[in-house]
Amino acid sequence: MTNVEMDPPARTAGLVLAGGQGKRMGSAGPKVLMRLLGEPMLYYIYQALASVIPEEAIWTVVGHKREHVEEAFPQYAARFIHQQSQLGTGHALLCAHPHLQESGVTHCLVVNGDVPLLSNRALLELKRQGLSRQADVAFLTMRPSDPTGYGRVLRGEQGFVERIVEEKDLHPSQGHVDEVNAGIYWIDLQRTAPYLERMDQDNAQGEYYLPQLVELVAADGGRAAAVCDEEGGRELLGVNRPQELVRNEEQLRRRIVDYWLDRDVILRNPDQARIGPRAQLEPGCELTGPLEIYGASRIEAWARVDSHVLIADSAIGEEAWIRNFSHLEGAEVMRSARVGPYARLRQAAVLEPESRAGNFVEVKKAVLGPGSKANHLAYIGDASVGSGANIGAGCITCNYDGRAKHRTTIGDGAFIGSNTSLVAPLEIGARAVVGAGSTISKSVPEAFLAVARARQRNLERKVSKREKDDGNTGQTGRKDS
Ligand code: UD1
Ligand code: CA
Repeated sequence: MTNVEMDPPARTAGLVLAGGQGKRMGSAGPKVLMRLLGEPMLYYIYQALASVIPEEAIWTVVGHKREHVEEAFPQYAARFIHQQSQLGTGHALLCAHPHLQESGVTHCLVVNGDVPLLSNRALLELKRQGLSRQADVAFLTMRPSDPTGYGRVLRGEQGFVERIVEEKDLHPSQGHVDEVNAGIYWIDLQRTAPYLERMDQDNAQGEYYLPQLVELVAADGGRAAAVCDEEGGRELLGVNRPQELVRNEEQLRRRIVDYWLDRDVILRNPDQARIGPRAQLEPGCELTGPLEIYGASRIEAWARVDSHVLIADSAIGEEAWIRNFSHLEGAEVMRSARVGPYARLRQAAVLEPESRAGNFVEVKKAVLGPGSKANHLAYIGDASVGSGANIGAGCITCNYDGRAKHRTTIGDGAFIGSNTSLVAPLEIGARAVVGAGSTISKSVPEAFLAVARARQRNLERKVSKREKDDGNTGQTGRKDS
């Protein structure tokens, strides 16, 4: 064969079908945005596809509440195809077909958006077999222990695929079929184009079925190939009902936990640890379940996270200690800092080395400098605290005046007494002291003492005759002047 006669290398696009509503899930939003370990289902689909196909060749059919999908995945939104009314998976492919052909690809991997455990291994195997068998259409099949809900794969006498029958269209005479369609296809765009137009809605659900393509190709003597994925086990299971979402999530959870245990993370009570796929854990960090770690979180070596803690999109430094029942979102806890028990760190809360946010302390958009402490019952919002400062119990930064947020700056070594209100905008100088119970609304210069509370008066009160007779008035002190 000369170079001229050789087929051009197959250029493959990816297509995610994400237009459906997922009625059986009972979710208000699109099913593909329902979360597993903190990430939307589509995240996992894109991960698998992007390891096989370049991001700029991945298309998505969206329909039901598509603006939510767009918002969640802006990096893919340039190749979103709008399916105005959801007339079925076949219709979704019809909508996408002209876009795919125009983009110059020859083949397409089509993936149902509700198969979150899908691996790139399965996708590569489908692509490999699709190419080597020169299939017009190839698709992944599996033999789950319970085939309920899936399209059944019917083969002819010689074992060749004839068609896929949806469960709702299954006739009792077709008997028990255990091989089912996994909803992942490899399609030769040009060769299947004429068949796409012949799909109809003549079935129990009145929808265009993508699987009908298999039947049309096979009946016409074309090449339809079923690729049975025996190895994958349960990774091709779809999510159509809440219990399937939970089951898939549990499988994923176990996989992630085992991965970290293998990498020398000390993970106690692993059965109750929920760790998202984007979390990064260093060997030697020590975690105790039940706990949840989601998003782009990172936990360094020798950090310790106790049970009943939630950490999302947060970084925990070496030797930091997050004690029980703390809640961290978008926070950064640096080396040897301590948090909780029962602390709440919200977005952009930064605890610099060896600082401390103790029980019932809330920190938001604030930096606690090295060695500074807020040990009990405080709210520190929109603030920056220098090093070695002490924030007393019940100190509140009053950062919001009903219209705008204002900042509080607290200098190095400042001492803020208990139960103080710091009315922002405000600057407390280095080494300044604020008396307990003060409401501070003017800045305090460096090393000054500020006290802003009513002077205490002890007044003699009128004593009733009975108290006098009983002789227990308790008034032995001196009257105020
Ligand atoms: C589909 C297959 C079935 C297979 C199963 C595997 C069809 C008709 N049936 O059934 O053979 O065994 O997957 O999991 O395809 N979607 C759209 N637009 C639509 C309809 C659906 O984009 O108009 C998307 C959905 O968002 C979903 C995917 O296509 O991500 C599959 O749709 P779904 O309704 O879940 O199909 P199944 O009934 O599970
Ligand atoms: Ca499905």
